[in-house]
Amino acid sequence: MLILGIESSCDETAFAVVEGGGRVLSNAIASQVELHARFGGVVPEIASRAHLECCVAMHHQALADAGVSIADVDAVAVTRGPGLAGCLLVGVEYAKGLALRHGKPLAGVHHIAGHIDSVHLGRERDAWGDDVRDAQRPFRPYVALVVSGGHSSLVHAKAPLEYATLGETLDDAVGEAYDKVAKLLGLGYPGGPLLDKLAATVAKSAYDLPRPLLNRDGYDFSFSGLKTAVARLVETDAPKREPGAPLPPDFVANVAAAFQAAAVDVLLAKARRALDDLGIDRLAIVGGVACNRGLRAAVRERLPRVKVAIPEPEFCTDNAAMIAGIGHRVIASRGAAGLGINAEPGLALDAATWNAA
Ligand code: KG4
Ligand code: ZN
Repeated sequence: MLILGIESSCDETAFAVVEGGGRVLSNAIASQVELHARFGGVVPEIASRAHLECCVAMHHQALADAGVSIADVDAVAVTRGPGLAGCLLVGVEYAKGLALRHGKPLAGVHHIAGHIDSVHLGRERDAWGDDVRDAQRPFRPYVALVVSGGHSSLVHAKAPLEYATLGETLDDAVGEAYDKVAKLLGLGYPGGPLLDKLAATVAKSAYDLPRPLLNRDGYDFSFSGLKTAVARLVETDAPKREPGAPLPPDFVANVAAAFQAAAVDVLLAKARRALDDLGIDRLAIVGGVACNRGLRAAVRERLPRVKVAIPEPEFCTDNAAMIAGIGHRVIASRGAAGLGINAEPGLALDAATWNAA
């Protein structure tokens, strides 16, 4: 089964074609990063207008890259939520138009479930190392550490389309904290990749930052206190300089390394607790922050006996291949949605609700 996936929940307009829920034939993405960079974050109204302008081009690019026509596609899957209302609306209405015009079944899907399922994507092998052409690949339960710009959570993926949220952030998402800390340090947007690069230049930071909720029971996270600790460190410890002058590179790199060490410590400690408590030996790390080199290195060192799956970077940040992948599962096991579905910014992770009008 060939699925055309559509993703427009935030600042990426993405269309992709995926076969059999895992084999990625194309993954077309138009990023709006440059449009939002001068504002230091995503401006919802600008984002939804840009989605409108990019949809047609991305739709045709995804089909051309996959070497298929719309007639070859078996179904259309679209992110219905969570996300920015105006942005979701563009993708959902476009998907409905395609489904109506070409007589294709439609599936509404959950953005975070797409991230959680992204471990099953690949061009040859998925992130577990399994052959993506193997239709008999079994589903094995895992814990997903979802780390993105909008979400930070630990989810137990019990069975296909069956999720239990174990814990989530009580305030900022970890990617959001990366972006805010980068802004405090005078770096560009998005800050995650820039901080990651700087942190890698420092073997051991001169600073030690708090590990929020590290010793508290449960699996919840909190990152806003860490961001405030960085702000305080900049106020108290930054070398004296002319008003408006940038912070010294050495200081910025040390703060970046301290922030990254604290964030990685908390993420991996809570993930380890969830794995131990559930008696599960598989961990998936998904979402934009899963690109982080510090996190990737630390997980192998600190959880040596855990089977860890981290998707290729192109499937970690927002993309439509993950939407087509999870859409395949929805169409195969739950059937199609009607054309009455709407964008749902607060969509729940419960798959029974995704196709309901
Ligand atoms: O999954 P994603 O593309 O969008 C959301 O669903 O939010 O994640 C984007 C986030 C941004 O906050 C970005 O700064 C962060 O992922 N990110 C990183 C890295 N690459 C992207 N954070 C830390 N290290 C990275 N290498
Ligand atoms: Zn995302």
